[in-house]
Order: sequence, then C-alpha cells, then structure tokens
Amino acid sequence: LFAMSTGAAHAEYPEHPITLVVPFAAGGPTDVVARSLGAELGKILKQPIVVENKTGAGGTVAAAYIANSKPDGYTFFLHHNGMATAPALYKNLKFDPLNSFEYVGEVIDVPMTLLARADFPPNNLQELIEYTKEKGEDINLANAGPGAVSQLCGSLLQQAIGTKFTTIPFQGTAPAMTALLGKQVDLLCDQTTQTIPHIDAKTVKFYGVTTKDRISKLPDAPTLDEQGLKDFDFKVWHGIYAPKGTPEPVIAKFNGALKEALKSDAFKTKMADLGAEIVSEERQSSESLKKWVDSEIKKWGPILQAEGMNVN
Ligand code: MLT
Repeated sequence: LFAMSTGAAHAEYPEHPITLVVPFAAGGPTDVVARSLGAELGKILKQPIVVENKTGAGGTVAAAYIANSKPDGYTFFLHHNGMATAPALYKNLKFDPLNSFEYVGEVIDVPMTLLARADFPPNNLQELIEYTKEKGEDINLANAGPGAVSQLCGSLLQQAIGTKFTTIPFQGTAPAMTALLGKQVDLLCDQTTQTIPHIDAKTVKFYGVTTKDRISKLPDAPTLDEQGLKDFDFKVWHGIYAPKGTPEPVIAKFNGALKEALKSDAFKTKMADLGAEIVSEERQSSESLKKWVDSEIKKWGPILQAEGMNVN
C-alpha cells in the first residue's frame, strides 16, 4: 500500500468515491459490466464506484472527456473495441487512443448476437438473407453509432450478406433494444450481456451468434458462420483506462483491485450468466491492454477505411 500526498496530510488512496465513466446509455451492455464490476471494485478499494454514462458519437464523446479529465486517480473509463476503431472512423478525434490514456487492463470478452423484432418475417438467417434481396434498404438496423460494436457488427453483416440496410443510431444499445422490443426497428446486433435475458424470454427473434464457435451459454444457437456467412467471427473486448498522467501507483492499485474483482464469485457468475468470458490474467495487465489497442488500431484501420466507413 502507498500514500498519496494531499497537501497537508498523507492519506491512503482512494479517499473518496471514484467515477467509472461508461460511453453508452444506462442499462445497456457496457453499463451492466461497469455496474457489476464497480460493485466488486468498490468493496476492494473501500470506496464507492460511481458509474457515469457519458453518451454520444459512438463512445468518442466519453473518450474525449476522459482524455481531458484530471489525472487524479478518481476518474476511470470502461470502453470496448470502439477505442481502437475510432481513429479510422473519425478524422477529428479529440483524443489519441495510444497517447491520451493510462491503461489499467482488459476485463472481459463478449460475443454478439443477431436479433430481430418478434414479428419480423424471417425466422432464421437464411430467410433473412432471402428477405434482404426483396426488401434491402427497407429493412432497418438499430445501432449505437459509428464506434459502437453494434454498428461494426451490423456493417460486417451487411458486407457478408452483400446488402445495405437503413441504420438507425441510438445513444447505446439499451434504447436500441427498447425500440426493437417496441417493434420500431427490425434488426439489432448486440452483446450477450444485454441480449441473453431477451433471447431466453423469446421477446425477440434470434438468428445466431457472431463468434466462429458456438458459445457455452447458448449451446443450441448456431453461429452466423455455420449458417453460411463463412468466416464471420466477431467478439467484443473491454478495457479500463484513466486520463494520461494518472500516477503509476494509482494505476497499479486499481489494476490490483481489477484482478481481484475478476476473481470474485459474484462477478464471475454474473458474467457467465450473460455469456461473457473473463480475460486471462495475462491480458489483465496494463502493458497487455496497450499492446492490444495498438494491434486493433492496425487491424481495423485499413478495413474501415477500405469500406469507406469514416464519418467525418
Ligand atoms: C452499449 O453499451 O450500449 C453498447 O456496447 C454500445 C455498442 O453497441 O457499442
């Protein structure tokens, strides 16, 4: 344990509640992870973790906010693949994924699922593919904007099918799911951390999982790959960041708490129930997350540019 100078006295970090910023709407997949993880981190660090939802522009509003936040150890950020896809999608980003942050570590991997509103005519992926030939742009796909994994998954899907849907952006997939349940939109590709309860309740149509292999939580659910979208393989990864300049001992302490939280039964059970997989201990390190972000920027940059997916 260490002490941080607070001017008059040396007190032990953390001395007051810590904010964990989520770049998408409350109640959605990222928020669910942040709140479950925050509860465990709070017990370990003995200070409440307050989740704050800062939505907008596919997660880039929140990332820019973190990049400009005080590096005092009281602001952290949970984000997914969007951290690495943003540079290819937005020309005028107000942050640099490789230089504006300190890296705490990776958290979990989450498969995605392709869903439709309960009364959408196609009953499976093959029927959807046939239906798109007739309806194409009349079909709409909800997502959380460029930078969101729901958007990226939807783009990969349109590319794989060879079609174009009309996309409808929301501030997160929680409101997108509300629109799907309300039958205001047709399709949504979303993480199991939000979709499993709806799949179980059969309040949506479910066309398959986006990973190459079937997932243990939904063993009977076919993958998109095995239904004809050859080599479709996409899953979501999540990391924790802090503003650049956050003291190293703070990052180390938070990383220690993260590793402990990822071992807690409550978090493990909750994530397993939602189809998510806690990353290996090796991936829970700061160095590993930074290397991973770098490799993902290099992987997605050319793909997104070739697809002309940049938004400004
Ligand atoms: C969310 O938390 O709302 C989603 O992760 C947004 C997304 O699709 O990226």
